[in-house]
Amino acid sequence: MRESAPRTVYLKDYTPPDYLVGSVELTFLLDEENTRVTSRLRLQKNPASANPNAPLVLEGEQLQLEWVKLDGQLLKPERYELTPENLTIAWAPKVEVFTLEIETRINPKANTALEGLYLSKDMLCTQCEAQGFRKITYFPDRPDVMAKFTTTLIGDKWRYPVLLSNGNKVASGDLKKNRHWVKWEDPFPKPCYLFALVAGRLDHIEDVHVTPSGREVTLQIYVERHDLDKCGHAMASLKNAMRWDEEVFGREYDLDLYMIVAVGHFNMGAMENKGLNIFNTKYVLARPDTATDADYEHVEGVIGHEYFHNWTGNRITCRDWFQLSLKEGLTVFRDQEFTADRSSRAVKRIEDVNLLRTRQFAEDAGPLAHPVRPDSYIEINNFYTLTVYEKGAEVVRMLHTLLGPEGFRKGTDLYFERHDGQAVTCDDFVKAMEDANGADFTQFRRWYRQAGTPEVCVLSSYDADSQTLELAVRQSCAPTPGQADKEPLHIPFAVGLIGPDGADCPLQLEGEPEPSSATTRVLDLTQPEQRFRFVNLPQKPVVSALRGFSAPVRLHHPIDYDELAFLLGHDSDPFNRWDAGQTLASRIILSRVEQIKAGGTPGASDPHLVSAYRKALSQDWSDLSYLALLLTLPSEDYVSALMKTIDPEAVHAARQSVKRELTEELQDRLLELYRSNHRDESGCFDEGAIGRRKLKNVCLGFLSELDNSAIHALEVAQFRGARNMTDQIAALGCVVNSSNPERQACLEDFYRQWEQEDLVIDKWFALQASCHRSGALERVQGLLAHRAFDLRNPNRVRSLIGAFCQANPVNFHRLDGSGYRFLGDHVIALDGINPQIASRMVGPLTQWRRYGGNRQKLMREQLQRIAGTDGISADVFEMATKSLA
Ligand code: TRP
Ligand code: ZN
Repeated sequence: MRESAPRTVYLKDYTPPDYLVGSVELTFLLDEENTRVTSRLRLQKNPASANPNAPLVLEGEQLQLEWVKLDGQLLKPERYELTPENLTIAWAPKVEVFTLEIETRINPKANTALEGLYLSKDMLCTQCEAQGFRKITYFPDRPDVMAKFTTTLIGDKWRYPVLLSNGNKVASGDLKKNRHWVKWEDPFPKPCYLFALVAGRLDHIEDVHVTPSGREVTLQIYVERHDLDKCGHAMASLKNAMRWDEEVFGREYDLDLYMIVAVGHFNMGAMENKGLNIFNTKYVLARPDTATDADYEHVEGVIGHEYFHNWTGNRITCRDWFQLSLKEGLTVFRDQEFTADRSSRAVKRIEDVNLLRTRQFAEDAGPLAHPVRPDSYIEINNFYTLTVYEKGAEVVRMLHTLLGPEGFRKGTDLYFERHDGQAVTCDDFVKAMEDANGADFTQFRRWYRQAGTPEVCVLSSYDADSQTLELAVRQSCAPTPGQADKEPLHIPFAVGLIGPDGADCPLQLEGEPEPSSATTRVLDLTQPEQRFRFVNLPQKPVVSALRGFSAPVRLHHPIDYDELAFLLGHDSDPFNRWDAGQTLASRIILSRVEQIKAGGTPGASDPHLVSAYRKALSQDWSDLSYLALLLTLPSEDYVSALMKTIDPEAVHAARQSVKRELTEELQDRLLELYRSNHRDESGCFDEGAIGRRKLKNVCLGFLSELDNSAIHALEVAQFRGARNMTDQIAALGCVVNSSNPERQACLEDFYRQWEQEDLVIDKWFALQASCHRSGALERVQGLLAHRAFDLRNPNRVRSLIGAFCQANPVNFHRLDGSGYRFLGDHVIALDGINPQIASRMVGPLTQWRRYGGNRQKLMREQLQRIAGTDGISADVFEMATKSLA
């Protein structure tokens, strides 16, 4: 066991800082194992502090303190107190402003947690969000202390020819012993979590962007020399993001220089440090032969996300870490809209909702459920969650839906004007939305403090005599840990009515003089139960409920197969049209699950599904990416979430059998579509080419279910002939998941071809880890010993261990518990290296309540073993104990 339970931090305990930092000058004498950091702080009492006699308390961890000077005087050790977490000076000067100087030493090479200053290959870099700055020097490490940073970097010219930090480069020079220095100045006050430095042998590409006000901004992307030919897409994405934020939000960039650095060792996706973003290579590097179309889209999305943080996160930051969704929810909403504007809006919405419904809903229904604005935490790094990011973005999207695009823009304009340069709360954001629009979001604010996914039940009844349709809508929310009673939420509920001819009906609510011009109506749900009566409907319409997924709720809407097929054929709302197909397919897969559990052999193919597919496959579609999604069966995770008790084997078998039967029925048409869309247009990234690749590879995925020699040959031909990664990896996936005799040969060839490309080798690991054939665990165990595997590299860990535990349910949940034991072993091993990564790996075990008796017991055993491990980190301790509670 841990010696003591780690401390819990509560939102209700927030108090303003006792001291403010006007400016800080940092000097780094860089060395892999012994970096010297000197810091010179200009401090003053905070007039808003509740305690005028408060001691000066600075945070610092794993630092070797050399000396402290107060107003130039060396402090004797009895003048300050040092603990493993703090440096406290009880008696600070009475004067207005005073200077504190500190020297610390740190060892970047020993820093495998990748937080603070660390080494990624030969490059020194930093990660300070959320609380990593305290591993660099003693400082008030909280986001509401905003200071002006000046940073001088000193290092060996050969090892560290490039020396970067936030802001503008203001001076540089040579030193003796082959060293040089560069001085950086960031004119914008910022919290220390946005501090960054990078030192290494890096190459870069450069471009310029001219803002509407005429500012010329130099754009640079820094990578290792070997990757210089994979930066073009990232640069184009950055320019697109800058233009988009100018046009859609009226926001322009504020420094003369914007730098992005790609590093191979990184805990998350990317980090928005002011003027110096640091990225996981995964979200920068892309070349047609090494990156898939999905990778291209993700690069653009993440580049946009970090760029958008410059206003939503950096210029306006969070008062405390409970407000994390203030910047993350809003910035995710902004990056989602950016991608929607740049590609297919319908496809983007479907992808986002898929993620929310499979992963965030599971989080919200499990032991770690928490509100978008949490009330307490042990380790803040555990709260960079799907709830804070994705549900947080849905909450912002609901404000956008309620206010309309113009009202929303008025709200953000006021927010930027009112709070520029401040550290604020989620409530300040909602207040700006209210004040700019004269709206009242008192009830809406509950979305920030209430955890759990609300359930919405809709019943419709049509009365032919009065030509009216009544919707009875009920909302409720199950209890979540610490929140037994739930209050009703303000839910924007978008509906449409579709007439027998397939066209949208005019919408007129009882009491209204005439129908509205729009054929989608946003109803305000505010009560546990409400009724809405639509009038002037000469024929019975079909209800299209929760159009565009207008709120993050579980919808219960009794609707039969014929109506689903009708919506699939006619709904003018592309999201609901797709969703009707998903509901239809899920129901059929679920009834197959029941057959399998009852010991029956799967029957004949389902006529509803076959005819729906046949229709979709015969129509002309302008958006082929959308068609590809329409044809994709709901994932095993999605189907599982609909079950009371998950049976991973039955779900897998049922989904596979439905897929196989559809293929048997429709193989001619699938092959025809495959052939007509299989063209050589590698390097082409317009929507048409991307759509053709997507559709073709979905067809190949179906056809590979036939598992015969003709299809084997087709898969191998595509694999060997591919000149882009989308086609190559899709074909390899089919080969590896079938009984294709060339499986081993293809895997080996792929490895040899891409040995030098880390990100492609990550795909090679992930593909094998997620292979649903039996024996996957043994193969994964074998791959752990592969020379390319490294437990200290998070991308590798995610691609092998993460993919096996999250993307391979049928193998991970093996009844003998070997998958769980495997995960337990690796959480414990990883915890000694990188607690943030170890903690994220615990995820699949936290869902134990969703499984049957023996699996529950075996999963719990691993959680107990993890929680009871000597010296386990606070990160993993919090995840394991909270999910057992
Ligand atoms: N703020 C970052 C983003 O969402 C994410 C982030 C938070 C992060 N903590 C991190 C990235 C730690 C890397 C490591 O854009
Ligand atoms: Zn972010």
